[in-house]
Amino acid sequence: MTIQIDRLSSEIDELATFSEHPAPAVTRVLFSPEDLRARRWLDEKCRAAGLQTRFDAVGNFFARRAGADPTLPPMATGSHTDAIPNAGKFDGVVGVLGGLEALRALDEAGVRLRHSVELIMFTAEEPTRFGIGCLGSRLMASSLSPAAVGELRDPQGRSLADLRSEAALTGSLDDVALPHGCYSAFVELHIEQGPILERDGFDIGVVEKIAAPAALRVRLIGEGGHAGALLMPDRHDAGLGAAEAALALEKIVLASGSPDGVGTTGVVRLLPGAINSVPCEALLEMDIRDTQLATRDAVLRGLSEAIDEIATRRGLQAHIEIISADPPATCDPVLVKTVETVALNAGLRTTRMVSRAYHDSLFMARLAPMTMIFIPCRNGFSHRPDEYSSLAQIERGVRVLAETFQALDAF
Ligand code: HGY
Ligand code: MN
Ligand code: MN
Repeated sequence: MTIQIDRLSSEIDELATFSEHPAPAVTRVLFSPEDLRARRWLDEKCRAAGLQTRFDAVGNFFARRAGADPTLPPMATGSHTDAIPNAGKFDGVVGVLGGLEALRALDEAGVRLRHSVELIMFTAEEPTRFGIGCLGSRLMASSLSPAAVGELRDPQGRSLADLRSEAALTGSLDDVALPHGCYSAFVELHIEQGPILERDGFDIGVVEKIAAPAALRVRLIGEGGHAGALLMPDRHDAGLGAAEAALALEKIVLASGSPDGVGTTGVVRLLPGAINSVPCEALLEMDIRDTQLATRDAVLRGLSEAIDEIATRRGLQAHIEIISADPPATCDPVLVKTVETVALNAGLRTTRMVSRAYHDSLFMARLAPMTMIFIPCRNGFSHRPDEYSSLAQIERGVRVLAETFQALDAF
């Protein structure tokens, strides 16, 4: 079986051109003009490969390769093509275009699987548009209700309904949910987004667990005023409250003692945002994760206590909204063993590992047996323009994915 890595490489490069920012950065936010162009492009690519394609009501994209026995539940693979601002061109894309390449390689090798295979491009794996990640897979797995999704607003105040109509997506969000067992297996190919595989000399990582992510939105409301005339003792500076809250998050995570505990204050917006005006309001978005749910939740509790103390001391109002707080996902041991065996039989240096990034697999685990195939990325860099995996690394990942389909087809 030949993986046409040059074909895949030029498609990765072509997809990267659908970006709000110039190369090497990639910015492709849900339902932006660039995202809509990328979606149409992917649909054409998959149709050209002979796959039957469809979009569901929230824009999850499905490209199906029919198997010999339609009575069997399909296998599935996939990932995302949306990209946070100033990202790279491999995050998510390797799993979507690599999945397409795996299906083409099987076809071109004359391999007829018994199971159908569905390649899925999930809507909004990244939280950029609505503040919550994995919007499409959450709805598929019934982890988020259509009503709750209807309440979401983007920074410009637009709803999903507004954006869906611009994207010409019809149908009801109620029809996005899929039943448990809809797929016999879900395997996602993805760059590691961390340094372990490269540092320790592995070609393939087989994921056994996906860490538990949580996202908070915190509003601190103080009193503004003139930067010159308002004296320091009289201030209720929301900006300084925000600064203390961000440092408190770091302190609490480090104090948890968990090696997998992480905390990030990735968004800070100050109002009115003028150099000579004391910030009257601060909006923070905070990302907290751990492989251990109890430790993650202890950090959430400690943080909200710290924010309340900061607000009281500084004369601020604090509003804390938990955007999402999800449990970790455990990968299916049979799938893990299957991927590991395929990779070892291919002579690849293989290790089992945890995913500290979240992925749509976190929610697909609620619908079907799941695991992930990781490939190394240079220095572990991701979510930045210099994100990079070599063609050889990508080719190995795609081959393991294709041969995993063949191995699972026997089940
Ligand atoms: O944030 C994450 O873990 C994923 O890359 N969206
Ligand atoms: Mn990402
Ligand atoms: Mn990703």
